[in-house]
Parts: sequence; C-alpha cells; structure tokens
Amino acid sequence: MPQIVVLPHVELCPEGAVIDAKPGESVCDALLEHGIEIEHACEKSCACTTCHIIVREGFEALEPSEEDEDDLLDKAWGLEPTSRLSCQALVPENDDLVVEIPRYSINHAKENH
Ligand code: FES
Repeated sequence: MPQIVVLPHVELCPEGAVIDAKPGESVCDALLEHGIEIEHACEKSCACTTCHIIVREGFEALEPSEEDEDDLLDKAWGLEPTSRLSCQALVPENDDLVVEIPRYSINHAKENH
C-alpha cells in the first residue's frame, strides 16, 4: 500500500504524519480519512484551490494534471512547480508520496491580506 508522508503543517498536522493510502483514491480523500482536515471548499470538484498541496517526492508518479486543474492552480497561494490540487491527484499504485500542505489557502490569503 502506498504511503503518503505529510510534512508538518502548523494547524492541520503539527507533527507531520505518515498515512497508508489506497491507490486510485484522491490524495485529498486519503488525508481526510486520516484526520488531516485539508480544506476542500468546492467538495473536490476541481472548482477552487483550497485543497492545494505541493508534492515534494513522487510527483512524477502522479497522472499529469488536466487543463482545468492547471488553470485553477495558477490562482493558488504559494504555487510551486510540483503543486497539485489534492482532490484531483490520485494516489499512485506503487509509489509513495511526500506532500506539503501550504501554510495558507486562498481563503486565508483573502482574510489576512
Ligand atoms: S477541493 Fe476544490 S479544487 Fe479540490
């Protein structure tokens, strides 16, 4: 079973986490199932950017993003070359992932800036 290593996030998982994920489920679902309450404002329908993650390892193992996802990601806070929307990125069959949840989502960015 692939594992997802979640790097520490101040609010969502201060200690970081290592979770067992099912191949083919979205990274967002895998995190939520394990109590990491990543935002998912559009209910995982690829219409917001609040579920943004940065894939630190295993990015190449993911299916490439669709155009819709890329368009949205352009608006995400803290975009990086290996950014993905976690509701669209599916857990690979055999590869582990290391993911970082950005400090802010676009919702926070609006509130704080
Ligand atoms: S939850 Fe909105 S794009 Fe993923």
